[in-house]
Amino acid sequence: MDNDVDKFYRELPKVELHAHLNGSVSFQTMEKLIARKKHLGIERSMTAIRNDQRRTLDECFQVFKVIHQLVDTEEDILMVAKDVIREFADDGVRYLELRSTPREEKNTGLTKTKYVETILEAIQQCKNEGVDIDVRFLVAVDRRNGTEVAIETVKLAEEFMLTTDGLVVGVDLSGDPTVGHGRDLFPALEKAKNGGLKLALHLSEVPSQLEESELLLNLPPDRIGHGTFLHPEVGGSQILVDKVVKNNIPLELCLTSNVVGQTVPCYSKHHFQYWYHLGHPSVICTDDKGVFCTDLSHEYQLAASTFGLSHEAIWKLSQEAIDCTFAPETLKQQLKQKWNELRPHVCQ
Ligand code: IMP
Ligand code: ZN
Repeated sequence: MDNDVDKFYRELPKVELHAHLNGSVSFQTMEKLIARKKHLGIERSMTAIRNDQRRTLDECFQVFKVIHQLVDTEEDILMVAKDVIREFADDGVRYLELRSTPREEKNTGLTKTKYVETILEAIQQCKNEGVDIDVRFLVAVDRRNGTEVAIETVKLAEEFMLTTDGLVVGVDLSGDPTVGHGRDLFPALEKAKNGGLKLALHLSEVPSQLEESELLLNLPPDRIGHGTFLHPEVGGSQILVDKVVKNNIPLELCLTSNVVGQTVPCYSKHHFQYWYHLGHPSVICTDDKGVFCTDLSHEYQLAASTFGLSHEAIWKLSQEAIDCTFAPETLKQQLKQKWNELRPHVCQ
């Protein structure tokens, strides 16, 4: 992670809406996991990509396979989730929506239900310990696993939504964008939406997903992850843009992730520019702070330096993110109040 971040960005209260749990594991936590599982022969260099390096998306997805080997027990998940939540809080994140794909591991007896329960336990423990952050959870559907697993995952999310007093707020659609098709996942996502779960979908992360994006935008999703290739200038279409704008669907934008994974050629060509200038709700996020060696303060500073945004503009960006959360209205109001209280100190 880049420590060269100005005080303003560190102190800025922030909202993080796009963070994959296993992609967010820090260097320090990774050391603990590697020490626990020396027999796997995994080295630090296999679990993260320096943010000055470039990789293909496929290489990025190989990294998650390595991390999953290291995180395969309830004990690991509890530690990883607590560490990630504390790190976001230390970075000034005051509201976090964490997402993760429920996994079962035959070797360790981990079940998908236990997987989710353990993350919720981590959220609860952090709350009891007084960590200054509100956390909600999105259950992730991995697009590679097809229709049945998607339906099963949505059922799990629905059960937890009803029993966790609002901790589980929605469903994410993620996984290797070059595998599978949204049409196979549409019924599961529609069921989730009808059941009251919010939808945060990775959409148009790579070119050639026009047809899928058009279909999934009919749901419509409540937020879009990346949306890199939606607009006509990069091979998308005005029809897609119009649908996003008409439904006022916020975009979760992750600069470092897209540049390191080479779906965007360089920071100055990031589609943040396009959507921000349209005045469309755009939220700066990290995606995988561990894998891409970044944090949210760094991402805000990067957006400011790349696109010439003033502190005032950055403050507005961070504050407007509150309305893009899946938090209930009462919590949104509390967060806005917190921002107002912090403003004189941060923007002095
Ligand atoms: P987990 O769901 O907590 O295990 O986090 C890692 C998983 O998140 C990966 O295996 C992918 O399914 C998903 N993921 C992380 N980053 C991306 C991305 O940029 N695009 C699509 N999926 C992603
Ligand atoms: Zn993502």
